[in-house]
Amino acid sequence: MIVGAQWGDEGKGKITHYMAEKADIVARYNGGNNAGHTVNVAGQEFRLHHIPSGILYPETLCVLGNGMVIDLPVLWKEIKGLRERGHKVENLRISENAHLVMPYHRLIDQWQEGARGDGRLGTTGRGIGPAYVDKAARCGIRAMDLLAPEVFQDCFKRNIADKIGTYPFLSEIDKDEVVREHVQLARELAPWLCDTSVLLCRALEEGKEVIFEGAQGTLLDLDFGTYPYVTSSTALSGGAGAGAGVPPRHLQDVMGVVKAYTTRVGVGPFPTELTDEVGTCLRETGKEYGTTTGRPRRCGWLDAVALRYAKRLNGLTTIAITKLDVLTGQDPVRICVAYNYRGEPLESFPTNPRVLAEVTPVYRDFSGWTQSLRDLKSFDDFPEPCKAYLWFLEDLLGIPATLISVGPEKDETYDMHARGCRICP
Ligand code: IMP
Repeated sequence: MIVGAQWGDEGKGKITHYMAEKADIVARYNGGNNAGHTVNVAGQEFRLHHIPSGILYPETLCVLGNGMVIDLPVLWKEIKGLRERGHKVENLRISENAHLVMPYHRLIDQWQEGARGDGRLGTTGRGIGPAYVDKAARCGIRAMDLLAPEVFQDCFKRNIADKIGTYPFLSEIDKDEVVREHVQLARELAPWLCDTSVLLCRALEEGKEVIFEGAQGTLLDLDFGTYPYVTSSTALSGGAGAGAGVPPRHLQDVMGVVKAYTTRVGVGPFPTELTDEVGTCLRETGKEYGTTTGRPRRCGWLDAVALRYAKRLNGLTTIAITKLDVLTGQDPVRICVAYNYRGEPLESFPTNPRVLAEVTPVYRDFSGWTQSLRDLKSFDDFPEPCKAYLWFLEDLLGIPATLISVGPEKDETYDMHARGCRICP
């Protein structure tokens, strides 16, 4: 399991790609093209939205699980983009149970955001929330419906007629064109549609290496994130059971991806947010602009209270620290180790956003370092203050940092698996 331990954008794409080298299968189980997983290979950047981050390995099977919501034309564009760059996508498998994001979902999402005014949630506008609403309301359209064009057409026409009642502007949608486009895409994608739960369970029983790649992050989880400023799916490790159709007993090793500072896109409380020049510096150095929407990300110090919460909810067994290089030049470097709420310390991360909005972070300061981390020969060459920062974080969380990433490329990763666990010798 690879999950985001913060508010998304932790670098799950890079870490999944790194880990996928030895994997047989990489499976996504939640979200859709609200995700933007970036993988860099030999100076080329790939931005994946639906497709799992194992796709650049020709032998790795990549599964879009039933818990995802799929925007077919966008998926097709992603597939074509990969093919044009010489990558094989024949190893893709799409769950026939996955729900489709239809054009009306996207328009409703954008309209709702506009109508919320100051109360907006800051969604990506990709129709994710409305698609999951239809799934829960049992009127969604599933990938399998595409295989029977008349079923798909009936479902689509019934849904859109229904929705036009509430959102008259949807009558602008060219219904025949939507049906035509989807039926044509269904023909292209049909060979990849299958019961992916069967495929995954069989692989797990055979002892194959399967990576489940979470999208978004713990604090955007529908149940345990900073509701209502969350996404509409389960971003936690536990979501992989239902979202990929596998028994939870298979989910043993859970790696939390942790950016060395914190970012958040969209609205909602963010205790360690920096609205000063340090925040601006982190944004510019870390190129903190949304992969999917291009929006500037809000930046702040690392929040270990939130990370302990992520550890508990996901059962994290290790962490991968990303973008450590971005902290070079900061002095001090800070980690939030506790919250105060109305003068009292808080035991754990509050799930009430009104409480979270009022907490004051308690920081532990570390000396900074000026040496670039990107061209060192080995981890031993890391500046001592940087090591102190890492060891403190490991000790605080009680789990080892098994991967340390200092740049976008795969070889800019220090693999600490071999050194064993410093925490529990
Ligand atoms: P939605 O998922 O588009 O409905 O957006 C809900 C919230 O989740 C918004 O604050 C988005 O900015 C955030 N969000 C959704 N997907 C991602 C992601 O992949 N990275 C970071 N934030 C995300």
